[in-house]
Amino acid sequence: MTINEIRTKYLEFFKANGHTIIPSAPIVPQNDPTTLFTGSGMQPLVPYLLGEPHPQGNRLVNSQKSFRAEDIEEVGDNRHTTFFEMLGNWSLGDYFKQEQLPFFFKFLTEEIGLDPKNLYVTAFIGDEKNNVPQDVESAAIWTKLFAEKGIDAKVVAIGSEADGYRLGMQGGRIFYYEARKNWWSRAGVPENMPVGEIGGPDSEVFYDFATLHDPKWGKECHPNCDCGRFLEIGNSVFMQYIKKEDDTFGLLPKQNVDFGGGLERIAAAAQGNPDVFAIDVFADTIGLLIHFSGKEYEDSRYKRSFRIVADHMRAATFMLEAGVRPSNTERGYVLRRLIRRAAQHAQKLGVEHGQGKDSMLVKCASIFIEKYKQAYTELQSEDVYQQITDEIWREEMQFAHTLEAGMKEFEKIAATGHIEAQEAYTLFTTHGFPFEMTLELAAERGLDVDTEGFKKEMLKHRALSRAGSEQKFKGGLADTSEKTTRLHTAHHVLLKALQLVLGPTVKQRGSNITQERLRIDFSYGAKMTDEQKKEVERIVNEKIAEELPMTRSTLPKEEAEKLGAEHEFGAKYPDMVSVYSLGPKDASVENPQFDKAFSIEFCGGPHVSNTSELDVRLTKSNIGPFKIQKEEAVAAGIRRIKAVLV
Ligand code: ALA
Repeated sequence: MTINEIRTKYLEFFKANGHTIIPSAPIVPQNDPTTLFTGSGMQPLVPYLLGEPHPQGNRLVNSQKSFRAEDIEEVGDNRHTTFFEMLGNWSLGDYFKQEQLPFFFKFLTEEIGLDPKNLYVTAFIGDEKNNVPQDVESAAIWTKLFAEKGIDAKVVAIGSEADGYRLGMQGGRIFYYEARKNWWSRAGVPENMPVGEIGGPDSEVFYDFATLHDPKWGKECHPNCDCGRFLEIGNSVFMQYIKKEDDTFGLLPKQNVDFGGGLERIAAAAQGNPDVFAIDVFADTIGLLIHFSGKEYEDSRYKRSFRIVADHMRAATFMLEAGVRPSNTERGYVLRRLIRRAAQHAQKLGVEHGQGKDSMLVKCASIFIEKYKQAYTELQSEDVYQQITDEIWREEMQFAHTLEAGMKEFEKIAATGHIEAQEAYTLFTTHGFPFEMTLELAAERGLDVDTEGFKKEMLKHRALSRAGSEQKFKGGLADTSEKTTRLHTAHHVLLKALQLVLGPTVKQRGSNITQERLRIDFSYGAKMTDEQKKEVERIVNEKIAEELPMTRSTLPKEEAEKLGAEHEFGAKYPDMVSVYSLGPKDASVENPQFDKAFSIEFCGGPHVSNTSELDVRLTKSNIGPFKIQKEEAVAAGIRRIKAVLV
């Protein structure tokens, strides 16, 4: 079964069960400054899981393009990929456990044809401290589902992963684990969830490839063991809790289901081969690399490199399609790393390297475009094809220059007769010269390199950059506290005020909202004068004083565009969209009066219902609560404002 077939079967199966098929959101998140990439299907749906009505209804299904940068180093084993497709179905306050578990079981056994004997499942053991009970309902539903297939499913309690390695399978089919394994939120376990974050217990399905247990991981094997015998192929999250200000859990307005299953992994289970790189979508790329390198995929010296080139070029193709370009910061840096790492491993395989359109990496990308363009029509455009292939080739050339310059540095160092860890590290960070190259060249010259010392330098560097990025992406709209929501509404008013004062060419280019302040990045070529800043503040405060209602409407996309609703540059939206309009004074959901609105934006919320809520001062002065704190340049033609509500 090809992944195109499995994806179609999944979408059609849920459609037949009352779900609306929605498009994949872009791999680069919209209106969510907290992460660089969309890493799961639920990310774009957070506002709806929080209770906003979704314009497409309360049963949804899709296949979401996802990317997890944190898995880059893991790529090379039989199951990790950076890019993947997450099949997802959602109940927004509609069905719950009783329907979800049978849906997925039926899909796997009857649509995909997996033998139920090879399926093992898990459920949440409970958490007294947070007052979340053991998920006995899921265990009972699974018992019944297996019984219907003639399987007497034994339920066993495991607890932690360490307990799993100690206790083993115990003849079980249904396993209880603690939160580290059977609780899902974007932040992980309940203790790590910030105020306003949502999560819940989950139930996972594992496929048993019946390979031998490798005791390197732990004495006994169990479903969550890392030896590779079991592969997790789907996770039903029962999204029903929200972290409150007092650090306890409250219930969400509705009980939701957030299901996510890796398409590639389900395909691996369908073919009974635990190697996800053996599925159809990678087979052609790896075949090409075999052809042009003369190496065998099964050769253990090269397998990892085959997988890295295939994975990285697929991810790079989707990132380029989403508009990311190689650079030294943020998303661009991740893309640069993917392409350069792929180039290095293609070199290691010894592939004959063509030029331009004949470059091996460009050929790999062309294969992926071909494979995916039916499911993701954005890949069909000739323009997009040109851009993707041009950018890859350009980056390859740049990398070749970098290597040349790095070679010169390397020769200088090598001439001294030894290579210090610090020198190898500088070659890598300052000259972009890969450590593997340093090692290889040093070996050719009979020189030693302090690998441990180099790793230590790298760890130091990573800790520093992690601290930096945590600081950078902390906050934003991930938190839906009252304070943040107020600032989100102020953000809409501010964007319109900027357009009124600076001109209609002002467009939003980024945003980040915390409980303390809002931040907006927008296109404008010059520093704002004090008068302009004062005027913007005056307009925002005037709209607050006018006590304008904020109204949410669901409209066909074309209609919203005709109204001139602001939307993110380059974003793709579904056929029906949610927009927020501000004012006029007597606007209502029944009669939004778009023609008289002060501002209209494509937006999933949340917002306050009236701008009067933005002024919470006990003693009101006639100046108004909105204040610009800072206005500065962040890039050529892009300005940034930080502002507060006092
Ligand atoms: N949101 C869940 C996950 O990513 C389904 O695993």
